[in-house]
Amino acid sequence: MDKILTLGIETSCDETAAAVLRGGRELLSNVISTQIPLHQKFGGVVPEIASRKHIVNIMPVIDEAINKAGVELREINQIAVTFGPGLAGALLVGLSAAKSLAYALKIPLIAVNHLEGHIFANFLSAPELEPPFLSLVVSGGHTALIKMTDYNSFELLGQSRDDAAGEAFDKIARVMGLPYPGGPEIDKLAKSGNADAIDFPHPKVTGYDFSFSGLKSAVLNYLNTAQMKDEPINNADVAASFQKTVVDTLAEKTLAAAEEFKLDKIVLAGGVAANSSLEKTLREACNLRGFKFFYPSKILCTDNAAMIACRGYYQSLEKTFADSTLNAVPNLGL
Ligand code: KG4
Ligand code: ZN
Repeated sequence: MDKILTLGIETSCDETAAAVLRGGRELLSNVISTQIPLHQKFGGVVPEIASRKHIVNIMPVIDEAINKAGVELREINQIAVTFGPGLAGALLVGLSAAKSLAYALKIPLIAVNHLEGHIFANFLSAPELEPPFLSLVVSGGHTALIKMTDYNSFELLGQSRDDAAGEAFDKIARVMGLPYPGGPEIDKLAKSGNADAIDFPHPKVTGYDFSFSGLKSAVLNYLNTAQMKDEPINNADVAASFQKTVVDTLAEKTLAAAEEFKLDKIVLAGGVAANSSLEKTLREACNLRGFKFFYPSKILCTDNAAMIACRGYYQSLEKTFADSTLNAVPNLGL
């Protein structure tokens, strides 16, 4: 089984990506063609432009992934593709390519949930990692705490009731005039700011659910009020204070859940996992409490097809395959 070659395909948002995986953890290639510069002038992803660009890129990206892996297309044993959540038109491009290839090559097709994929990026960065563990998934569209008891069981402990963490980063950055995507920009700017300069309200949600819209409004109000009064704004302090509030909230709930459910491994996943302060805060807190901490390498934090191939491989062990009727599910949950 370990020689199984899985081709992963990911087109849920603004990255066209393909990867080849041998067995469950040996990554042979990981090609990502990003559309970020194309969407930047609009301040966010334009769905119609994303779909069109995926159409242009998908076959060259798959070809490159196959070539870089040093294999032949006919050697691929199975295809794993993201079917949701994401932009409908963007998802359909990856799905059509995956379905056509699986049909032509007469090989199984595997339907992968993008959010589950983010968690599986960790198995590629840390091949020794095994469930059970607690995962904090923080991406542009989702914030969730998930208990994973084995490779195919996900228990949702809590999630965001409104804005996702990444969404809050992106919206605040936009108002501050920073380019899209705002998360990495706020991360950079925060390094030169004072995180205790402004006391933004901590979200007050009990249990393991999250809410970031109140915090987002508080930051936007702070910026608007200062502008109206013609007061100087220290953008670095705003970025650092906002980021600290988000990071503290995420870390607090994650550590509480790990203690309550007696899980001694904490696994960070999703685009916001690339945030330097979140990674540092969780790492230090885990060291203090004796938890093991895992987070993916930077390139595997944000959208990629390697994580989709990895998730697909573990689904194939359970023989959960899809067929040509597979459709995109833009609002797919966990
Ligand atoms: O997982 P991802 O690539 O796409 C989705 O599935 O949504 O996540 C993208 C999100 C964006 O909101 C982006 O601003 C955020 O991840 N992000 C960051 C950082 N790098 C990416 N947020 C904070 N700090 C970062 N360094
Ligand atoms: Zn993602």
